[in-house]
Amino acid sequence: MAIDYFAPPVGSAIPSNPKAGTVPRFNYSEANKNSNVVWDEAQLDQYLTDPKQFMPGTKMIYPGMKDAEQRKALIAYLRDAK
Ligand code: HEM
Repeated sequence: MAIDYFAPPVGSAIPSNPKAGTVPRFNYSEANKNSNVVWDEAQLDQYLTDPKQFMPGTKMIYPGMKDAEQRKALIAYLRDAK
């Protein structure tokens, strides 16, 4: 899948592998690897609001999702997708 080239498979980070920066073979930024974030729904909500503010130095270019209801739906989707 094209998304695997750009981004770690986020579904696998939630909830089975919640520690940030640990999907094998993905070339994470130092910011991500050293963040010590353990993803849960509250952390994801903050990250997805404004990724660069939550994790300064992240190389995820996605600018964020400002609508709280949309983030809620997205996080529920990721949780249920496994
Ligand atoms: C709604 C859409 C998106 C969601 C929910 C999402 C979610 C995430 C999550 C949870 C992580 C952290 C994974 C981990 O710590 O193992 C991550 C990292 C990353 N994402 Fe996204 N992402 C989205 C869109 C995108 C897009 C559009 C791109 C690129 C075109 C992208 C590129 C990346 C990259 C490169 C990283 C690694 C960041 C780093 O190493 O600093 N993401 N994403």
